[in-house]
Amino acid sequence: MKIKKAVIPVAGKGTRFLPATKQIPKEMIPIIDKPMIHYAVQEAVDSGIEQIIFVTSSGKTSIEDYFDRNMELEGFLEKNGKENYRSLIENIGKMTEVLTVRQKEQLGLGHAILCAKELIGDETFAVILGDDLVIDSNPVTKQLIECSQRNDNGSVIGVMEVPPSDTNKYGIVDGQYVEENKTLKMDRMVEKPEPKDAPTNLATPGRYILSPKIFKILEEIPKGVGGEYQLTDAINILAKEDKVFAHIFEGDRFDTGSIKGYLEATVEFALRREEYSDVMKDILKRKVKEHGL
Ligand code: G1P
Repeated sequence: MKIKKAVIPVAGKGTRFLPATKQIPKEMIPIIDKPMIHYAVQEAVDSGIEQIIFVTSSGKTSIEDYFDRNMELEGFLEKNGKENYRSLIENIGKMTEVLTVRQKEQLGLGHAILCAKELIGDETFAVILGDDLVIDSNPVTKQLIECSQRNDNGSVIGVMEVPPSDTNKYGIVDGQYVEENKTLKMDRMVEKPEPKDAPTNLATPGRYILSPKIFKILEEIPKGVGGEYQLTDAINILAKEDKVFAHIFEGDRFDTGSIKGYLEATVEFALRREEYSDVMKDILKRKVKEHGL
């Protein structure tokens, strides 16, 4: 089964990045030369996704504009002989089809996903949380789609091992392995359990392949942890009625929702970019000396 649509929630306030986010969406803060949201959309496109649904809120229109054509800028760059930049800008405008739906109140991730119900219809779909970037030669959403295809087109939650003390930051899964050390048939999922209550240390950084059956559950669940409608609670119920798997994905993950993760991603992404790798190595070497690290 081909998975064509991805939901990317972008309605959050980005308080951890204030004051930058006073006037621009956190998704538009750049890592090197591209806004953070570019990397999440690129992951979707590289995974075969054809349509992106942004669940958005007021003050976020620059995200849609970024993925639109900008004929005036393209014309300006062409006139000034800047063909490289012109084609770069054109390609971003042609990257994918974008639809948006408003989340009028921020009532949690579960509520955000429910807002996309009409635009998804009756199809299995992907969810990508742009606060977490994962880099691998095989994009993480593609890894999950392939896992779903190997396992009866079931829903799949992307998970990674975290230190046991960190379980209260994530949705944590539990289940039985069906593919050695890689895929579990999920029994349950718990939102942000304290370490002593966590069934495992397998956490999702926000990558999901979900059956459209999730919408009916999302309509009925009560508020959960933090007084919000939690996607995790709906997935926990889905696992009792339908096939849900958890897949330990390959790749390096960066929590770009935090300043620490953002700084780390900036350094790492520069080291991985051919044109900036040597520059970043020089900076790091100099700074280590200057600061006596
Ligand atoms: C959300 C989800 C959580 C997931 C996390 C990944 O939490 O509810 O299950 O592990 O994203 O970043 P949030 O970080 O929005 O509180």
